[in-house]
Amino acid sequence: MAESTEQRKSRHLDVCLDEDVASRLPAGWDAVRLRHEALPEIALADVDVATTFLGFSLRAPLLISSMTGGTQRAAEINRRLACAAEAAGIAFALGSGRAMLENAALRSTFDVRPVAPNVVLFANLGAVQLNYGVRVEDARRLVDVLDANGLYLHLNPLQEAIQPGGDTNFRALEPKIAALCAALDVPVIAKSVGSGIAPSTALRLIGCGVAAIDVAGAGGTSWARVEGKRADDASRERIAEAFGDWGYATPRATAALRAALPRLPVVASGGIRDGVQVAKALAVGADLAGLALPFLRAADESDAAVAELITELVTALRIAVFATGSRTIADLRDALA
Ligand SMILES: Cc1cc2nc3c(=O)[nH]c(=O)nc-3n(C[C@H](O)[C@H](O)[C@H](O)COP(=O)(O)O)c2cc1C
Repeated sequence: MAESTEQRKSRHLDVCLDEDVASRLPAGWDAVRLRHEALPEIALADVDVATTFLGFSLRAPLLISSMTGGTQRAAEINRRLACAAEAAGIAFALGSGRAMLENAALRSTFDVRPVAPNVVLFANLGAVQLNYGVRVEDARRLVDVLDANGLYLHLNPLQEAIQPGGDTNFRALEPKIAALCAALDVPVIAKSVGSGIAPSTALRLIGCGVAAIDVAGAGGTSWARVEGKRADDASRERIAEAFGDWGYATPRATAALRAALPRLPVVASGGIRDGVQVAKALAVGADLAGLALPFLRAADESDAAVAELITELVTALRIAVFATGSRTIADLRDALA
């Protein structure tokens, strides 16, 4: 019998938590060097990391990237992540809402508004689902029911191609994405899932009306490797492993997008693991930095672990801003060594 969306999502969590699913391509943060200012002429207390993204105010330029929903376990993870994001004033993205569209009873596993009334919240759908029965009205309903501030649309052709029985018809999606962007009252953000987005593709997506791009580049969680490990089929896993270093590394992909599209709202994610890498992501051109797997690990542990991770990221980011002699995250753009 075909695996249900619910079973698939639960297995994804286990594979990500228990197996080595790191991209075989190093993200390359070591090659990004920030200036060290020995005489900063400000106090650490003067550093201000607050920002706005797509018009939403955030106390730090951080996003908990799209991961989960659809199971009871996912409900608890989403609750933990949303509460911590709300308390810290950072943004939070839910995992793909397709399961909820298929089964309305799963709404409570995504619905974090009761515990996080003010968090900047993004719903999520796979763009390819627009070729598999998901209509613009469904996406609108997802956003409305969850009271989301925006919709993440993920682009995952490699993942679908490696996944047994994946949804691989990516034909003629551009007009459907354009119709979706036109119909929604909230911004649509296009993202990859760990392979990156080239500037030429970003331009096409902007032509469709997307408001921002999340590069979700290579160097962190590899969705080829996740799907290979999930397949329980040695041949399929070998095929998947051949794609273990596929895609554009996050820092380079972010810099390329920023160079090509100076005013585009950009999120960097994929392989960001500490606050200094957050600072580097901002320095090469991102407006926001997103992390997925580190937050899954923390949420799997406890509420306190999620809060502690956010504190560590923000503290290291603040110190990095200070040590470059910058006062705000906007100043970081001039802080490459
Ligand atoms: C357990 C898990 C589930 C994910 N589910 C989704 C999803 O439903 N939709 C999506 O757009 N991305 C999903 N992602 C991808 C992440 O949002 C992110 O793009 C990718 O993992 C790279 O970030 P990282 O290296 O910090 O993990 C998922 C990631 C993880 C770890």
